[in-house]
Amino acid sequence: MSDPANRLAPVVRLAPAKLNLTLAIIGRRPDGFHALHSIMAPLALADGLSLAAAAGPLDTLHVSGPGLDRLALGPTADNLVLRAIDAARRAVGGARPTPALAARLEKRIPIAAGLAGGSSDAAAAFDGALEAWNAGGDAVLSAEERQRAAARLGSDVPFFLAAGVALVEGRGERVTALPGAIRGEPAGILLIVPRIRLATPAVFAAYVASGAAINGATRLTSDHLAGELQRGLSARSLHDRAGILASANDLLPASTSLEPALVPFRRALARLAGRPIGLSGSGPALWVLYPSLADAQSAERVVRAAIDAGALLAPGDGPPFIAATTIVSPPSADA
Ligand code: C5P
Repeated sequence: MSDPANRLAPVVRLAPAKLNLTLAIIGRRPDGFHALHSIMAPLALADGLSLAAAAGPLDTLHVSGPGLDRLALGPTADNLVLRAIDAARRAVGGARPTPALAARLEKRIPIAAGLAGGSSDAAAAFDGALEAWNAGGDAVLSAEERQRAAARLGSDVPFFLAAGVALVEGRGERVTALPGAIRGEPAGILLIVPRIRLATPAVFAAYVASGAAINGATRLTSDHLAGELQRGLSARSLHDRAGILASANDLLPASTSLEPALVPFRRALARLAGRPIGLSGSGPALWVLYPSLADAQSAERVVRAAIDAGALLAPGDGPPFIAATTIVSPPSADA
């Protein structure tokens, strides 16, 4: 590290999970992807990513985290974090020195769950690498160039560059911030993720195979919520809409066709929580909305107790991942 060009400040980022409050499929694109209309919200549940100068000439990645043995992360070389650093280096294209980076990733978000943990890690790595190389902001790449490079990494990645509750359209590349978002006390979310792996391509393939017609009702719900979040909604008002939101995910029938055990589990959870249960993305992450974190934490205790007592049987390979968290909303001027 004697070369001053190789000196870089360590970068630390939180890579939040996301929740789909709605997910409307509004068409099929010529490139085979589906056109979406989805309201996505970042959660306080987050992975941690740090980037520092690497000791050698190659980028490296070290992954740690609770229950990592069960996550079956796959080969490090395939990890989106390394691909994102590489994409950032190619995007900088020699405009700045881009020395090798040592990335450390603390995984807390369950993988292949519908919470986009891998995409969020990629967005944090892409943006963090630019910052480490002093190529962040608009200095080297315009916002559009950053969004385009992010979209090439995966459909959910551009959402995380934008930060905040947003309307996501197209394949995922059109992200419109909803500045009103959730005002006042943050909305509480209870996440229950059965230890089942659902691959997004398989769920979309099941959706196509089902021949489902475009569901205008989901699109209407999504449009309506976008308007409300544009102006701003309290956590309690969002909670009042839980019933309609819990049925506003067009991938739900496809996910449950691949994992039929999700149907009785979701029903049993709804009975236990006395609340509607939503599905995030292509699943299997299930969510329950509450007006506050404290309410979500009380519900978490009830669900854990029922699972421990054998009164609630979760499908999958071991006990489900359960966490009470919140939707992260930027503070608004009139909150
Ligand atoms: O872009 P990403 O790698 O996350 O997408 C995974 C898969 O999900 C795609 O290969 C495609 O089958 C499906 N997909 C889709 N329409 C989208 C997003 C994903 O069909 N808008």
